[in-house]
Amino acid sequence: MVFDHNFNLDDGSINWGPTESHREYHRKMFQGFLAQTPQKLRQACCDDEGRLVHILQAEHFDLPFLEHICEVTTAARRSYKFASAKMHEMLARKKVLHLFAQPSSRTFESFTVASSNLGMTSRSLRDLRTSSSAKGESDRDALRTHSSYFDAIVFRSPCDYFDMFALWVMSTSNRPIPIINGGSGKAKHPTQAILDYYTIRASLERQIDGKSFAFVGDCLRGRTVHSLAKVLALHKDIEMYFVAPEEYQIDPQTEAYLKKKGVKVNKVTGGLEGIPEIITGAVYMTRIQDEHDGDGEQKRYNPRFIFTEKMLDQLQDPAVLMHPLPKREEIYPAIDYRSDRKIMIWREMRNGMWTRTALFAHIFGFDQEVLRSYHEASKAYAPTPL
Ligand code: NCD
Repeated sequence: MVFDHNFNLDDGSINWGPTESHREYHRKMFQGFLAQTPQKLRQACCDDEGRLVHILQAEHFDLPFLEHICEVTTAARRSYKFASAKMHEMLARKKVLHLFAQPSSRTFESFTVASSNLGMTSRSLRDLRTSSSAKGESDRDALRTHSSYFDAIVFRSPCDYFDMFALWVMSTSNRPIPIINGGSGKAKHPTQAILDYYTIRASLERQIDGKSFAFVGDCLRGRTVHSLAKVLALHKDIEMYFVAPEEYQIDPQTEAYLKKKGVKVNKVTGGLEGIPEIITGAVYMTRIQDEHDGDGEQKRYNPRFIFTEKMLDQLQDPAVLMHPLPKREEIYPAIDYRSDRKIMIWREMRNGMWTRTALFAHIFGFDQEVLRSYHEASKAYAPTPL
């Protein structure tokens, strides 16, 4: 399992080129790029002014960055009601490609709507059999081709290191464009972490320090779990419960990363019973990521880890119930019919559209413009509360 930079470049997830000598050449070049320190690699994700413009992994975020994106998100969300015509003009000359090599509903749709909120033109490439990949074109050439026509690429890939691969391709191109990771492999889903963080920050009224969080389900292969845990670890005195059977427990690399950041890590393998009542931040449910098993079978969820109605009642204010979706059997169906402020799942999903709008504004340097248009609109109208 790949959770650090010791990637297996021969795992077949990247087409490196047509012959073994091509492949060897490009892999060597990529390895040279990866050999840089993590600080240098993060720097490669920033523009000349030090703004993070390639949104690739949660490890690159800090609290000022997250705070800024949250503020721009709220401004975009609220001012859209009053100043949508203005927002629609902001990025009217920009074009984005949504390059999704894995299934997606929410991430794909919300990025598409986010780009249209700012007037961008967007195109999608989801079936790679319709591209020149089917003619044997390398992934490196394919990305350089896309970057010739578009001003940003949002990608989703089963490859654990596609984010670094894309960064490397951009670093060797004379037309580097911002890259956004819409979910790669088992460990990275940075924009989901931002929308989850935004939801948690609002639900807990910004009091995240000292809170406890439970991650339930597939903690091993859930990229949303890995990314959100790393973001929450930026706060002080955080306690995390990874609630999953042994075979889906958090991997040692991520556990070590969190502990190094000062997080108190608890691993619970017996079931979810007794956990929701002690959580002060959020219970974050996830499905079994069985697409990684390769046998095409949908695995049954262990009933001891299902979130029940009783657990919802036991969840203490201000803690909330979250899920990145899609959900299957891990949440008791009656919860769909409960109207309770603690159920944040659908709000969380909708927040994705606004946090992604803010991200587009940020990477193209229009974030201050969004903040300004919100302040102007709020002088003229009384904004609705969050
Ligand atoms: C998640 C993903 O793709 O990792 N979905 C999403 O983007 N909201 C979670 C999942 O598929 O279980």
